[in-house]
Amino acid sequence: MSEKAYYVTTPIYYVTAAPHIGSAYTTVAGDVLTRWHAQRGERKWYLTGTDEHGEKVMRSAQAQGMTPKEWTDKLVEEAWKPAWVDVDIAYDDFIRTTEQRHTERVREFWQTLYDKGDVYKGEYEGLYCVGCEEFKLPADIRTDEDGTQRCMIHGTELETVSETNYFFRLSAYADKLLALYEEQPTFVAPSSARNEVIAFVKQGLQDLSITRSTFDWGIPVPWDEDHVLYVWIDALLNYVTAAGYGTDPERFEELWPVDVHLVGKDILRFHAVIWPAMLMAAGVAVPKQVFAHGWLLVGGEKMSKSKLTAIAPHEITDHFGSDAFRYYFLRTIQFGSDGSFSWEHLSAVYTSELANGLGNLASRIAAMVGKYFDGALPEPADHGPAEQALADKLAQTVATADKALDTLAFHDALAAINELVGAVNGYVTEQEPWKVAKDETRRDRLATILYSAAEVLRAVAVLHNPTMPKSAAKLWTLLGAEEKLGALSDQRIQDTATWGQLPPGTTLTKGDPLFPRLEEA
Ligand code: MSP
Repeated sequence: MSEKAYYVTTPIYYVTAAPHIGSAYTTVAGDVLTRWHAQRGERKWYLTGTDEHGEKVMRSAQAQGMTPKEWTDKLVEEAWKPAWVDVDIAYDDFIRTTEQRHTERVREFWQTLYDKGDVYKGEYEGLYCVGCEEFKLPADIRTDEDGTQRCMIHGTELETVSETNYFFRLSAYADKLLALYEEQPTFVAPSSARNEVIAFVKQGLQDLSITRSTFDWGIPVPWDEDHVLYVWIDALLNYVTAAGYGTDPERFEELWPVDVHLVGKDILRFHAVIWPAMLMAAGVAVPKQVFAHGWLLVGGEKMSKSKLTAIAPHEITDHFGSDAFRYYFLRTIQFGSDGSFSWEHLSAVYTSELANGLGNLASRIAAMVGKYFDGALPEPADHGPAEQALADKLAQTVATADKALDTLAFHDALAAINELVGAVNGYVTEQEPWKVAKDETRRDRLATILYSAAEVLRAVAVLHNPTMPKSAAKLWTLLGAEEKLGALSDQRIQDTATWGQLPPGTTLTKGDPLFPRLEEA
């Protein structure tokens, strides 16, 4: 059996329209997280996919005059998969809930729970939000002055649904769930999300309606084909059906339990309450962690596919490149909190931290090695206090960034790396190599300065590889590091701080700028 892989998932997205940058935000976060673990030398497995059943998808297909299958096939191939290329996602598996590998296992799962007596038939009447695909509880409903009841997230009018349904005995799991949150304190993160979930479960849980019978776009209930399974209890199972549950025990053991489910805060309860209860009922291990992040806001509101605020990822990547997209959102928004997007802020961060910061530093160092040493990295002659300060800063940065990734604090990791780049820029400004170069007797000092700056850039390439793989690869090439040090992907985070790895004699080439300056509009 192979070692357990570090397994991370995104929510599976409703294919009602093309993705916007909110969906890309989660997907990029998971990609950076898993690439970071790979850079530590671990095996990683990254799953994303699409949620294709239910009323919401069915209605969006009807609006296009297509069947749900035609509509989702088209959107997945023409919009979703291409968007993940646009933002450079290296997923290992992409699951669609209409695939047989999923639908068959879902039917078996619920048949087992039905046979065990965890499911019963009953009547249900409630207020339903198709946008959320959820029956709403009183605390989640907003009532207008004229009495209209609306979803707090979507603002749309709720629909009264009255059906004969099957129910899952969720109420029986409240105590077990509370025990789980105690015993596994980081099961729900960050702590604000954990507190919210605990308070919710402490109020007591209602049984969950798990079937629908007024439309048929869903997985048929195995014991009663007049019903389809409720889209959420079908969708949640993607995390195990894609991992080989019920078909490939060896693979399942390598992947399960999942290390992190990344979710937006609006779908936290499904993942932190309903999902572990389903797994407990089936006797399957619960996830290690559910991490709830915030929303990307536009004009103070959640960017959404259904409102006209959606920005497609390529609108940003066409202009700034995929690396800048990945860097910007994770660097500027504390993961777990909401964040506002603006083009002005993106341009400002791109220019100051990427083009003028890292990009300019790398090309200056390569240019000076070219000019003063014919492009061959000189051997450092001494290692004085200024160089030791740089080496210390590097060691501290690696430790901070690596620790930050353990709690998904991408913003802290990237802030630390950005500070390191700032420290090298400061070092170069203070050491004034262009002045030292004028004095023939100080060749040794010049060599030390340029070597030391290039050596930190070597580490920066490794540290940025998970977030900005394209620019990190360019930097690796600029430094001529591959020949002696091997592939960038083979460099280990835990070895990055060891000083003196870049071999003298290596050829530095300036090449194209890492982050081209933006054309003035
Ligand atoms: N299909 C369900 C998830 C099922 S997982 C078993 C769903 N899909 S969704 O397409 O509506 O949302 C998917 C994810 O995108 C959610 O985590 C949601 O929080 C996230 N986002 C949607 N809009 C967003 C922003 N504006 N900002 C950040 N994330 C956003 O829910």
